[in-house]
Amino acid sequence: MLWVLPLVAYAGNFKKNFHSTWGHDRVGMFDDGKLLTLTLDKYSGSGFESKSRYLFGKFDMKIKLVPRNSAGTVTTFFLASNGAVHDEIDFEFLGNVTGEPYTIHTNVFSQGKGNREQQFKLWFDPTTDFHTYSITWNPHNIIFSIDGLPIREFKNRGSIGVPYPISKPMKIYASLWNADDWATMGGRVKTNWKEAPFVASYGGFRITACKWARSTKSTNCIESNTNGEKDEWKNQQVNSSEKKWMKMVQRHYMVYNYCTDLNRFPKGLPVECNLS
Ligand SMILES: *[C@@H]1O[C@H](CO)[C@@H](O)[C@H](O)[C@H]1NC(C)=O
Repeated sequence: MLWVLPLVAYAGNFKKNFHSTWGHDRVGMFDDGKLLTLTLDKYSGSGFESKSRYLFGKFDMKIKLVPRNSAGTVTTFFLASNGAVHDEIDFEFLGNVTGEPYTIHTNVFSQGKGNREQQFKLWFDPTTDFHTYSITWNPHNIIFSIDGLPIREFKNRGSIGVPYPISKPMKIYASLWNADDWATMGGRVKTNWKEAPFVASYGGFRITACKWARSTKSTNCIESNTNGEKDEWKNQQVNSSEKKWMKMVQRHYMVYNYCTDLNRFPKGLPVECNLS
């Protein structure tokens, strides 16, 4: 694996590193770019994306989800490459009626194909405080974490034919939209527009990544630690104590796992499902 471009690390400013992509007047920036809000009303949702693309990195986003009755809404934080046959690494937060739990949906797409969903409930209320949702993406694996602890790993098993996002730089995206045809209890509970506008808050981010430069498409990675940047993420894997936590979360909070869905894969589960 060859590395591309300098490492960048910073405590993020939304103004500097992102721009709105749709529902522009529903994207609010506050506190000089330290806080961003997305709003959804009857007419539109909203979204933003990073100005840069990255090929591998660790992406931390602080999010406070839509409070109270969020049924029908979906809040997202994900990475995606360009084009039809794209790669994507997803966090999606499916809202619920007041008092019922959000569902955290995760997925990995490679070469345009997803079908690797795992869904979780949470052990805290994600609407009262900011929590950090992280995607660590390196050549070895993808790790989904919440507040610094892993809930899912997706290993690179390219050598046995499992598609893995390895070559396409990705942007960071986030959005809030109406998906009441499927999001909550399979689409049975609709968005209650009387409660609009719905607001999700993004309270900060941290990107420690290899930034992609279109102009050079260089295959050299400049290892730069001059600013005290940390690059542990490059080789990061779930260690044994983290694995215990991850297994606990998967045992108690996982509500869907493609790897156990025999109805969906009658000819046999995807090959990675039989490997630890
Ligand atoms: C909403 O709450 C119901 C009842 O607890 C639960 O079955 C469902 O999985 C929750 N999440 C979504 C997104 O429907």
